[in-house]
Amino acid sequence: MTGEIDTAVILGAGNIAWHLGHFLSKSGITVVQVYNRSREHGKKLAISLKADFTDTADKLEKNAGIYFLAISDDAIKTVVKQLTISKDRLLVHTAGGVDMNVISGITENYGVFYPLQTFSKERHVDFTQIPLLVEANNTENLGRLKQLALTVSRHVYEMGSEDRMILHLAAVIASNFSNHLIACAENILKDRKLALEMLKPLMVETVAKAFAVTPGKAQTGPAVRGNFKLMEKHMAMLRSYPEIKEIYRLISDNIIKFKN
Ligand SMILES: NC(=O)c1ccc[n+]([C@@H]2O[C@H](COP(=O)([O-])OP(=O)(O)OC[C@H]3O[C@@H](n4cnc5c(N)ncnc54)[C@H](OP(=O)(O)O)[C@@H]3O)[C@@H](O)[C@H]2O)c1
Repeated sequence: MTGEIDTAVILGAGNIAWHLGHFLSKSGITVVQVYNRSREHGKKLAISLKADFTDTADKLEKNAGIYFLAISDDAIKTVVKQLTISKDRLLVHTAGGVDMNVISGITENYGVFYPLQTFSKERHVDFTQIPLLVEANNTENLGRLKQLALTVSRHVYEMGSEDRMILHLAAVIASNFSNHLIACAENILKDRKLALEMLKPLMVETVAKAFAVTPGKAQTGPAVRGNFKLMEKHMAMLRSYPEIKEIYRLISDNIIKFKN
């Protein structure tokens, strides 16, 4: 299988499928079909992409240029075994934390197309700014994937499964955990009828500063200052939030260790 990719099938209709489908379409790649387990979600995406819809593996378009598996990590292994696409088609998954070889043995051409960003259907994201990590089972497929990736993003990187999985782990810690800490803060504020919005300028500056001067240099707060009295007071204030209190203690200890 050679040549430029100009048609795609999207398997899945969740957050990634939604954004990827629309961005591919905007970039001149025709999404010919959406496949999804649940008809409601799948049809909605297919209609908005002017693509066909199927919920039956047997009815998958056989000759699309590329097949994106944009489904939950845990389902990839099972769903991929049901696929009935031609052996020479290019099949990729979009997961940061899943080895490329999980989808081997289905077609001769396979790889990974991982956008390193957090996606939710209701949020607009500019795909051109997103790092796209590509991997393939041979150099020819890697070239084709890179070419495709460059039509949707200016930041394309070749990366093997091991490094990608480390990057994904780091992304979970930096992004998903930060978000959860904001959710913890929101809980505490809500109980006193205080607005989370008050923290917005602080959070925006925290992220900007970490990338401007390094997170080590950017660290402020009672733990890095060694203000143990205040930390004890905070932990006492957290007595009705035992899990958040434990997180406070663990992170404070780690800030102190990083400092030394
Ligand atoms: N969201 C992100 O920020 C992000 C970023 C980068 C990469 N990714 C990767 O993109 C992939 C999809 O993530 P997502 O956020 O788009 O997920 P999502 O919004 O939760 O959507 C999950 C999709 O998988 C389908 N699915 C789930 N379990 C299934 C099963 N057992 N059999 C068949 N289909 C099943 C769902 O079908 P139904 O509609 O029928 O439920 C839905 O289409 C994952 O590999 C994820 O790691 C996500």
